[in-house]
Amino acid sequence: YGTSKINNEGHLTIGGVDTVTLANEYGTPLYVYDVKDIRNKAREFQQAFEYHQVNYQVAYAGKAFSCIAMIELADELGLSLDVCSGGELFTALQAGFPVERIHFHGNNKTPDEIEMAVKENIGCIVVDNFTELSWLMNMTESMNTDMDVLIRITPGVEAHTHDYISTGQEDSKFGFDLNSGQAKKAITMILTHTHLNLKGVHSHIGSQIFKAEGFEEAVKAIYQSLAQWKQELDYYPEVLNLGGGFGIRYGVNDHPLPLHEYIDKMVLAAKAESAKLNMPVPEIWIEPGRALVGEAGTTLYRIGSRKDIPDLRTYISVDGGMTDNIRPALYQAEYEAIIANKADHKKTEVVSIAGKCCESGDMLIWDLSLPPALQGDFLAVSSTGAYGYSMANNYNRILRPAVVFVEDGEHTCVIDRESFQDLTRRERSYSRLNTRKN
Ligand code: LLP
Repeated sequence: YGTSKINNEGHLTIGGVDTVTLANEYGTPLYVYDVKDIRNKAREFQQAFEYHQVNYQVAYAGKAFSCIAMIELADELGLSLDVCSGGELFTALQAGFPVERIHFHGNNKTPDEIEMAVKENIGCIVVDNFTELSWLMNMTESMNTDMDVLIRITPGVEAHTHDYISTGQEDSKFGFDLNSGQAKKAITMILTHTHLNLKGVHSHIGSQIFKAEGFEEAVKAIYQSLAQWKQELDYYPEVLNLGGGFGIRYGVNDHPLPLHEYIDKMVLAAKAESAKLNMPVPEIWIEPGRALVGEAGTTLYRIGSRKDIPDLRTYISVDGGMTDNIRPALYQAEYEAIIANKADHKKTEVVSIAGKCCESGDMLIWDLSLPPALQGDFLAVSSTGAYGYSMANNYNRILRPAVVFVEDGEHTCVIDRESFQDLTRRERSYSRLNTRKN
């Protein structure tokens, strides 16, 4: 993956840095990001669009992994940014990300969040439902400011992925459905509002998608409505945002397409459909999260206890688990791993990797082939860059790990490990108790 290699000592290196050095210096668990890999993925997307000579924006979906350094990197790479909460927006502002390239998503943006977005004058708000639309109308009116919006629609396309991360089907909490006329009603409301400018249409069909046809189908479904809106409302979008969801490789069973194939399919479909309507090709926007950062991330753990159940299974436990990677527990996601300090050793046993939480479901990997794993060895789990840190939690009061960026043989800590003090920093005693006085 990325710029991973094995050095003379048989250690895994990432971005030219020995992972054993990293684990010793920063402690474990540790998220290590191969910055070069993120740069390459961003360029791949951008070049795919350039090839087709269409106007485009590649927006990084910050939910995959958001922190100041990551947002700064996204800026440097010329990406736009999709945020989906006040917290993500705040992080982007702290990082100095250009507001005009920020897009705001979410199925329940609060009035405070909408106000923050309007006040900061961000690039656009992706309107998801009538509730927020009415808030947005009132707010822009009372603040006497204009706002560009996209309207999120559910194109009725089923992405063949895990149910929890599939979003394009009609029965979804996100967006306006096309069949009932709700999207049309929302569009009319926006078009007739003085302070809102309907810049375009948004759809996101799901996540970890391996078939480019899903995007093609979405484009076709959207254009059926566009044809109708053009005729009935005299509306045609300047922007077509087709969301994210491009699949990545977690393990041997995953066969992601080269990124350009997704773009080829969606752009060609948009060109063909626009031509049928005799209209220009809208600017095409996408919002990859996982595809930009997923494979760039590796988590390093220290191996602790071992439990052999004769003729049944060997459990090898590591010093993290569902607190830093909830995906196996939540989506039955599968990962691959090696022993970072024995990267060149022969795999001689099959073990299962357990996390340290008090929960039987806290298993990271079942039936993994490894060289003999000893207490103190470092386990490197690959492709943990997306929805790892961003979904990390403090269950069992376990500390969130540190995050390190590596590139060209250099390493920088971009998020410190949490401390025990962090755990209780915002807590107070209950004043009605008299057992603990001081
Ligand atoms: N745009 C929108 C509107 C989204 O809802 C999402 C993801 C993305 C873009 C980025 O999707 P990506 O390119 O990363 O697949 N926690 C789950 C994934 C949830 C995705 C939510 N929305 C997981 O760990 O698989």
